[in-house]
Amino acid sequence: MQHEGKEALLRTEGLTRRFGGLVAVSDVDFDILPGEILGLIGPNGAGKSTTFNLISGFYKPSAGKLTVFGENCTGKSPLTISRMGLVRTFQHGSLMPSMSVRDNILLGTIHGVRGAGKRRERAAETAEMLGLTPYLSEEAGTLPHGIQRLVSIGIAFAARPRLLCLDEPLTGLNQTEVANTLAVLEKIRDEHGCSVLLVEHNMKAVMKVCDRIVVLHHGQVLASGTPAEIRADKSVIEAYLGHRHAN
Ligand SMILES: Nc1ncnc2c1ncn2[C@@H]1O[C@H](COP(=O)(O)OP(=O)(O)O)[C@@H](O)[C@H]1O
Ligand SMILES: [Mg+2]
Repeated sequence: MQHEGKEALLRTEGLTRRFGGLVAVSDVDFDILPGEILGLIGPNGAGKSTTFNLISGFYKPSAGKLTVFGENCTGKSPLTISRMGLVRTFQHGSLMPSMSVRDNILLGTIHGVRGAGKRRERAAETAEMLGLTPYLSEEAGTLPHGIQRLVSIGIAFAARPRLLCLDEPLTGLNQTEVANTLAVLEKIRDEHGCSVLLVEHNMKAVMKVCDRIVVLHHGQVLASGTPAEIRADKSVIEAYLGHRHAN
């Protein structure tokens, strides 16, 4: 599959994951393209987090193929995949609460950057980009929720991934924090050409920031397309947008 001449950064083909008798992810095909923000949405239990864990190597697929940056990564370890440039955050936070923001962001440079000076430089650049410079010396766990979430993104982005994967980064944030986080994601895409996979519940935000959206339902791809296409898709409206989940 090619998209206007762009090779996919990530491709899943027939990706499937069973838990006992339950098929959490079933025959899922989708691509993430260079420099795009791809939204992965769907009701609770649709298989979003399982898909996320499959593509970052935390779960092994029961069937199907995963290609990352042109290499077959099916069954590869999370560390191998992250060193290739696919970096993820965790739904319940990836930061060390008792460490400073600076030291947290430095954690993200360990594998990718050589030398203490270069690491400090990278951490400072990352903080600047995310608006975290004023908080560098603060203890991360004492900061507002929205700032902590940015620190988690900063840890991941400090490795300068080619693909940054975020599982529900907007949960629990207020409107200003949501707007701020979305602006950071756009900056990461526009200034670094980094692709973003955004697993998200906040429909309004997804519609606003994503270049393309994949909708999961009962572990399968129900639809994929631009936000306008998804908004107009009858099966999506029936399965998802029509329900009170659409917030
Ligand atoms: N580790 C697991 N063991 C057993 N069942 C699981 C596990 N992880 C997810 N599931 C099940 O797989 C389905 C999809 O879950 P999940 O991927 O977490 O959905 P989402 O993130 O879209 O809410 C659900 O029915 C869930 O209960
Ligand atoms: Mg989930």
